[in-house]
Amino acid sequence: MNWLLIPVFLLLFSMAYATLSGAPWVPTWKRDIARAKKLLDLQPGETFVELGCGDGRVTCAVGQGTGVELSLVQYLAAQARRVLSRSKNVRFVFANAFNYKLHDVDALYMFLMPDTYEKIRPKLEAELKPGARVVTYVWPIPGWEPDRTDELPGAPKLYLYKR
Ligand SMILES: C[S@@+](CC[C@H](N)C(=O)[O-])C[C@H]1O[C@@H](n2cnc3c(N)ncnc32)[C@H](O)[C@@H]1O
Repeated sequence: MNWLLIPVFLLLFSMAYATLSGAPWVPTWKRDIARAKKLLDLQPGETFVELGCGDGRVTCAVGQGTGVELSLVQYLAAQARRVLSRSKNVRFVFANAFNYKLHDVDALYMFLMPDTYEKIRPKLEAELKPGARVVTYVWPIPGWEPDRTDELPGAPKLYLYKR
């Protein structure tokens, strides 16, 4: 048995587990990050959370807040991005989005799967405070009416919800 294979196995296992839990890792296109930021409209001092933050590109671009990630590979990539980009007001936590408390969140970003939105919706409804903003990329949250959408020919749609 080659013991070096154990960390490789752990990384692959956590990636597969995160994929089954919420979504595979597919990043927000770089050119769409500015669109997402505009829709999130984050003000200084507001609390921003990204559930399933992948390699942290959106949270680092926002420049403040917390990225939550369940896959060890993406979590480590996000931490590396935070250090390299010197994002002082950003942190990443290795956690399951379904267990992360959202009571103080002002703006939330998610790029997960439609059936995951279906599963996480009761948590959002129970925990998000009135006025909290939720932006999703590519797919809408089933059962919620968006307040605004951002559409660009040839690019995925963004949805803004206000609680
Ligand atoms: C479609 S990718 C989006 C990545 C990033 N938000 C972006 O837009 O670039 C979804 C990410 O969510 C993570 N993920 C899936 N289920 C999760 C869960 N239950 N808790 C935390 N992260 C999860 C995956 O590992 C993956 O990195």
